Amino acid sequence: MYKNILNYLKDKPQLYEPSTAPFWDDENISKYMLDAHLNPSVEAASRQLNFIKNSVEWISSMFKQTSGKKLLDLGCGPGIYAELFSEMGFQVTGIDFSKRSIEYAITNANLNGKNIDYIYKNYLDIEYHNEFDLITLIYCDLGVLSPKERRVILDRIMNALKQDGILILDGFTKNQLSDVPEKQDLYYADAGFWCSKPHVCIQRNYHYIETKSYLEQYVIISEDNCDCYNIWNQLFTIKSLSDEIKSAGFEKITFYDDVCGKKLSDKSKTICAVAQK
Ligand SMILES: C[S@@+](CC[C@H](N)C(=O)[O-])C[C@H]1O[C@@H](n2cnc3c(N)ncnc32)[C@H](O)[C@@H]1O
Repeated sequence: MYKNILNYLKDKPQLYEPSTAPFWDDENISKYMLDAHLNPSVEAASRQLNFIKNSVEWISSMFKQTSGKKLLDLGCGPGIYAELFSEMGFQVTGIDFSKRSIEYAITNANLNGKNIDYIYKNYLDIEYHNEFDLITLIYCDLGVLSPKERRVILDRIMNALKQDGILILDGFTKNQLSDVPEKQDLYYADAGFWCSKPHVCIQRNYHYIETKSYLEQYVIISEDNCDCYNIWNQLFTIKSLSDEIKSAGFEKITFYDDVCGKKLSDKSKTICAVAQK
């Protein structure tokens, strides 16, 4: 175990070095994440509820008629967007690989009498063909993937969309970088977000200027275990996001500051792309 700790910490991590354990689907972490998703005023696992409501309204307004239109929400979490889209008339499928979130989403849909199809699955493995009018990948989730995985998901989304179908996604821009300065921190906790047992958390943030990406690394050391969570993020420009989306075959792409349709500027921490097949 000591060898692992030394290995994780001795150098600046290699670009896209993976985590040693699942993050979103971890038994302990997913409890904290679900609480964060469901807190309407916290901007963490999901954005604040008011923003999400505005986002759903703006996205829905792109369709003359939403009733019966098929929507696939990738990384749907506990279904906050999915429920609202369903209320707008969309026929919604939500995919997520957090078991806890999907179980919550299914229970909640049943309670509210909503007919939403929730699937516990890695969205990199979707295999739909010409099925959806709209696919959403919201809260900067494209950028946590490696370039290879981004290519895979964009290709699969392209396949899953009907002709003229729309993809909506967002990503961070360079303006996000000031929120994650390079640093090293350490704390002890008896129990908490990362682990239900006494543990030490060592956090290191790194910027990778060459690839315009950054890493938030958390090394979690408990009595009998040591895991390393590497959370990568790609920063996008209009050009880099456009190039990636176009390489999957999309031609018509429009950009905004965010997934509520805010007019494009160079001030925003996010960029939203609306791409049509
Ligand atoms: C930042 S949250 C955003 C949730 C939701 N889109 C929102 O904006 O409220 C990311 C979600 O994507 C899910 N996720 C991340 N990578 C995934 C993958 N490869 N396959 C399926 N779900 C994934 C996580 O479990 C989590 O629920």
